[in-house]
Amino acid sequence: MDLTVTIAGVKFPACFMNASGAVCVTHEELSALGRSRSGAIVTKSMTVEARQGNPLPRYYGFSGGSINSMGLPNLGYRMYAELIPQLKQFGKPVIASVAGLCEDDFPAIARAINEAGPDLIEVNLSCPNIPGKPQIGYDAEASERLMKRVRPLITVPMGVKLPPYFDPAHHQLMGEAIGHCGVDFLNLINSVGNALVVDPNEEAVVIKPKGGFGGLGGAIIKPIALANVRAFYKHFKGTMPIIGTGGVVSGLDAFEHLLCGASAVQVGTALVEEGVEVFARLEKELAACLERKGYKSAEECRGRLKEL
Ligand code: SIN
Repeated sequence: MDLTVTIAGVKFPACFMNASGAVCVTHEELSALGRSRSGAIVTKSMTVEARQGNPLPRYYGFSGGSINSMGLPNLGYRMYAELIPQLKQFGKPVIASVAGLCEDDFPAIARAINEAGPDLIEVNLSCPNIPGKPQIGYDAEASERLMKRVRPLITVPMGVKLPPYFDPAHHQLMGEAIGHCGVDFLNLINSVGNALVVDPNEEAVVIKPKGGFGGLGGAIIKPIALANVRAFYKHFKGTMPIIGTGGVVSGLDAFEHLLCGASAVQVGTALVEEGVEVFARLEKELAACLERKGYKSAEECRGRLKEL
């Protein structure tokens, strides 16, 4: 079964890859992704300076999903700029994920990381876990301003990673902003921010930062992820490549993302829980599912969701 995909002109050997944030901070973790069957190596979202992130515990897995408030622990963009040429030797696309603690950080990082030669750059407009910093992706004007600042600095395909939206008016507003900025691909969605998981036995929250508030991931968010993939797929009439992220635990979950319009999928919670072996399992499951349904490739079923 052909599970290769092309996004913004870049060929991926498989349509599964890690979500930024899931075991992709250190050189060792990124190299393990390089050796695995992940179709790409996606770095942790990088900031100007290295960060330890939020206090522990900051990740909690439960049946059906996970909650995290990592707080962008990362090595700082200078270190990722050094690592990128080594990571490219694994022979699969390297996606550099760029974040920032204020708007001015993004262009500074984008310029430098672009020079390091990643295959694509993903601009993260949606980290929900920095205390006191709202998600830029919920402000269409600020997002447009930022995308317009970084776009001219980037010579490889540039994508944006967005938070989940819950109203068609917001899909429309962000879709229009994105349409003005020369964006080459979308990544939908980041975790569902500022959720709260309660342990009734302990009568307590399960993570320490922000009073227990954090981003929800895993199976529980799949319908929200699918809705966002579908809404933006339709907004751009199928012309905007989309990486679907959220709730991919099985090959069937990936198939649903593809049907909604995703070209590829990223794996977060399942990767954290299962390790890099998850990619081989997902490939096998998706291939069997596509075969059963008579498709010849992952590309072939993209966007083919039937409406009633
Ligand atoms: C985090 O580091 O807190 C998660 C990053 C993100 O959600 O973008």
